[in-house]
Amino acid sequence: MAIFSLTAPVLAIETSCDETACAILDPQGTVLAETVHTQAGHADLGGVVPEIAARAHLALLPGIVSETLEKAGLTLGEIGAYAACTGPGLIGGLIVGSNYAKGLAIAGNRPFIAVNHIEAHALTVRLPGVAQAEIKFPYLLLLVSGGHCQCIAVRSVGSYEKLGGTIDDAAGEAFDKVAKMLGLGWPGGPALEKLAREGAPDAVSLPRPLIGREGCDFSFSGLKTAVARQIAPYGMAALPYAVAADLAASFQQCVCDVMADRARHALALLPDARSLVVAGGVAANETIRKALQAVAESVAIPFVAPPLRLCTDNAVMVGWAAIETIRTYQEAGKALEDGILAAPRPRWPLTEIDAP
Ligand code: KG4
Ligand code: ZN
Repeated sequence: MAIFSLTAPVLAIETSCDETACAILDPQGTVLAETVHTQAGHADLGGVVPEIAARAHLALLPGIVSETLEKAGLTLGEIGAYAACTGPGLIGGLIVGSNYAKGLAIAGNRPFIAVNHIEAHALTVRLPGVAQAEIKFPYLLLLVSGGHCQCIAVRSVGSYEKLGGTIDDAAGEAFDKVAKMLGLGWPGGPALEKLAREGAPDAVSLPRPLIGREGCDFSFSGLKTAVARQIAPYGMAALPYAVAADLAASFQQCVCDVMADRARHALALLPDARSLVVAGGVAANETIRKALQAVAESVAIPFVAPPLRLCTDNAVMVGWAAIETIRTYQEAGKALEDGILAAPRPRWPLTEIDAP
């Protein structure tokens, strides 16, 4: 691709997990239309089943793309570029979404931009209108979802460093597993937060893994086991409501304390951070948000949490990351290579993202 400037809207697709999503953004990043469909079928199975998710993406995507175009009042002929998440994620879904977008790009003779899912989460906060003022580099991103739990130094578009991450479960995964033990549905995070409101956060003494330890890694499996040990004497079916509520509140407080401590350590590793940003489904948790807000205040930087629909998986972030990438290459006077040959990657470390 030659030095490329975007003069028409970008159509973006996200299919890396169980959200089938499409969004259309104008070249400035204004969202013209978006559609997110969260696949419902996985709830009964207690987690996302990759093969079922991939088939569902395939069935849903044509309708979701048409619906999004219709909402934007656009036709495919008016799209200037296509983008899709090509990793990291579940390989079946990545293949479906990226090939669909590539097909549209080839048919319309338009460029295709391959977007890294984590990079898309990382840049969301810079989407016009998300924060009161433009979020400047560098900043610290705490990405906490069902699949991810990491601290990322966001230095510029294309330049990211993972400062630390989980050595076992992701934070959301821990919420989901503990919720399951407490007899709550899936995903467990929202249900556990609700139950925690009825309990006391200091009722049960639980371990706070890695707290105070150097660096900013996370670990949740020991905490999960400690909760299981508390439940064992009752058996799940006979767990009194008040005990379940106390356990939920105590577990949530633990995760909060761990996250605040890890965020503090991460900020020490990135002393010039200008904001603390949180993304991922766990960012919906009010207690956790408050704890992180306090950490940011303690070092006098703003705490920014994008609205929840932009914190969880969506296609707006994919389109925005593509726009930021196109712009960055253009400003550097460098040619951005067409991503049409980019293979979907279940693993795609941030260090392997190309930058101008
Ligand atoms: O970002 P997301 O929608 O999907 C990915 O995992 O990529 O995050 C979903 C995760 C689930 O594990 C869910 O239990 C957790 O976020 N979650 C919460 C809350 N809402 C969602 N965890 C704690 N408190 C919540 N209110
Ligand atoms: Zn995600």
